[in-house]
Amino acid sequence: MKMAGKTVLITGSTDGVGRYVAAELAGQGSRVLIHGRDAMRAKALIEEISRGGHAAPIFYQADLSSLAGVRELAGAVAADHSRLDVFISNAGIGSMNGGPERRVSADGHELRFAVNYLSGFLLAYLLLPLIKAAAPARIVNVASLGQHPIDFDDVMITRNYSGSRAYAQSKLAQIMFTVDLAEELKSAGVTVNSLHPATYMNTTMVRAGGITPVSTVQEGGAATLHLATGDDVAGKSGLFFNGMREARANPQAYDAAARKRLRKLSLELTGLAG
Ligand SMILES: NC(=O)c1ccc[n+]([C@@H]2O[C@H](COP(=O)([O-])OP(=O)(O)OC[C@H]3O[C@@H](n4cnc5c(N)ncnc54)[C@H](OP(=O)(O)O)[C@@H]3O)[C@@H](O)[C@H]2O)c1
Repeated sequence: MKMAGKTVLITGSTDGVGRYVAAELAGQGSRVLIHGRDAMRAKALIEEISRGGHAAPIFYQADLSSLAGVRELAGAVAADHSRLDVFISNAGIGSMNGGPERRVSADGHELRFAVNYLSGFLLAYLLLPLIKAAAPARIVNVASLGQHPIDFDDVMITRNYSGSRAYAQSKLAQIMFTVDLAEELKSAGVTVNSLHPATYMNTTMVRAGGITPVSTVQEGGAATLHLATGDDVAGKSGLFFNGMREARANPQAYDAAARKRLRKLSLELTGLAG
C-alpha cells in the first residue's frame, strides 16, 4: 500500500518498536499520529522526524491505564481527523514494568489486562467511524507469542498472580479480539490482524524484565509494517502472525464460546454494552 498521504495512528510510539514504526511511516510520507504518556519523549521523536525532512508527527498524550484517558484520546483524534487509514494498537507494559506485582488501573481492572487489551478494545470501537471512513483500512494489534488462556472465573487474576501470566493473558485477549473484530468488519473494507513482532527486542519493557535482548526493533518494526502496509496481506483478516509469517495462536483464540465471553465482558467493562 502506498503510504504517502495516509493517516496512521500508532499507540505507544514514544518508545520501542512503536517509535521505530512511526519514524518509518513518516519517512514514507504518512501523516503520523503518535501517542504516549511522555511529552518530552514525543518532542524528541518529532524533532528527529522533522530533521529528516519529513512532516512532523502530531502527538496525542494519554494514559491508557484509565478508560477516561482512552476516551479523551479517541475524542482528540476524532476532533482533528475525519479518517484513519491505519490504526496500530501497540502500547503496552511488559511482565516486569513497574515491578511484577499485581496492580490495578484507574477503573480497578488488573493493570496489564487494562493497558494491553481493554484500552485497545475501546479505542478501536471509538475510532471505528474514522477507520471505516478510510476503507480499505487496516487495524494491527501488536500482541505476542507469550499467550496464557483466560480463566473466566478470575479474569482479573486475584489468585496466583504473576506479571508474566497477566501479560500473556492480555496478549491472548488482543488476539481473540482480532478474530472477532475481523469477522464483524468483513464487509466494511477494514482488515484486522495481530502479531508477535519479534522475540525480546531491545526495548524498555524487555530491559525492565532484566532480559538480554535477542532481536532488534528493526526486526519487530518490519513485521508490524508488513501487516500495516504490505500488499500481500491486503485481503487478509483475523489472522495472527509470528513476525512475517502467519501462525497459530493459543487454542483459546479459536474457541468461539471463549471469545463470546471475552467480548461480553469487555463491552461491560468499557461501558460500551448497550
Ligand atoms: N519487546 C519485545 O520483545 C516484544 C515482544 C512481543 C511483543 N511486544 C509488544 O510490542 C509492543 C511494544 O512494546 P515495546 O517493546 O516497544 O515496549 P516499550 O519500548 O516499553 O514501549 C511501550 C510503549 O507503550 C507506551 N505505554 C506503556 N504504558 C502506557 C500507558 N499506561 N498509557 C499509554 N501508553 C503507555 C509507552 O509510553 P511511554 O513513553 O509513555 O512510557 C511506550 O510508548 C507491546 O504491545 C508489546 O507487548 C514486544
